[in-house]
Amino acid sequence: MKSTVLTLQKQKEEGNKITMLTAYDYSVAKLIDAAGIDVILVGDSLGMTMLGYEDTLPVTMEDMIHHTACVSRGAKDAFVIADMPFMSYQTSVRDAVYNAGRLIKEGHAHAIKLEGGASVCEQIKAITEASIPVCAHIGLTPQSTNAFGGFKVQGKNMQRAKQIVEDALSVQEAGAFMVTLECIPEKLASLITDILDIPTIGIGAGNGCDGQVLVYHDMLGMFTDLKPKFVKHFGNIGEEMTKAFVSYRDEVKSKAYPATEHTFKIEDEIMEELYKEYR
Ligand code: KIV
Repeated sequence: MKSTVLTLQKQKEEGNKITMLTAYDYSVAKLIDAAGIDVILVGDSLGMTMLGYEDTLPVTMEDMIHHTACVSRGAKDAFVIADMPFMSYQTSVRDAVYNAGRLIKEGHAHAIKLEGGASVCEQIKAITEASIPVCAHIGLTPQSTNAFGGFKVQGKNMQRAKQIVEDALSVQEAGAFMVTLECIPEKLASLITDILDIPTIGIGAGNGCDGQVLVYHDMLGMFTDLKPKFVKHFGNIGEEMTKAFVSYRDEVKSKAYPATEHTFKIEDEIMEELYKEYR
């Protein structure tokens, strides 16, 4: 069944947890879609996992549109959300609506995600009014890494915890259909989930959220530059890939690959003629 803003809202109401994973290309999107994951996020985390940057700040609109279009071609039932990259919406409400529109028109996403609470509510309202569903993202917002002094857990003291609750209420009020809660204490995320009508999706926010999201490279053990506490390896695909690459290297060197079954045939007479002519 196709996921939509309505089915996702219903999942919150029925206590049916929402599953979300990142994807950045067609083949992985197809695999995730076939596994019955509800939502695919084309995260700006692609800056780190796919493009090798230290953080998400250099990611451009062109990067996001390119990868979102690949994912959209592979997702049949999953709801596709595309991240708005750094400085594509902070600069003005007009820029925000224009760039959100590009992710829908050119990337074929169903919704967009942007980072921030009360400070980006004007943008959320305007994008929503343009009929583009908005997923907000509060708590640890990686595009603010320089302001936070690194990737750090947020909301541990009273003042910051209150600010995150207020941000959650503000983004809902502005029209967001969903909110991502990143790296905040489990009990704070549970409180926010209880008081909001819209679904909450946690990453490093404990089990009380309405759903969970992970970066697929993290959950498959394919990205080893960082290992946040909340990441669980559901497979060791990184290790399996390295093993396969080593086997390939060894078999090519030893001439075990390609074997007869991997090759194409030609008539002997044709080869004899060719040998006569060219050797
Ligand atoms: O960019 C991303 O992948 C994200 C998730 C970590 C929520 O925003």
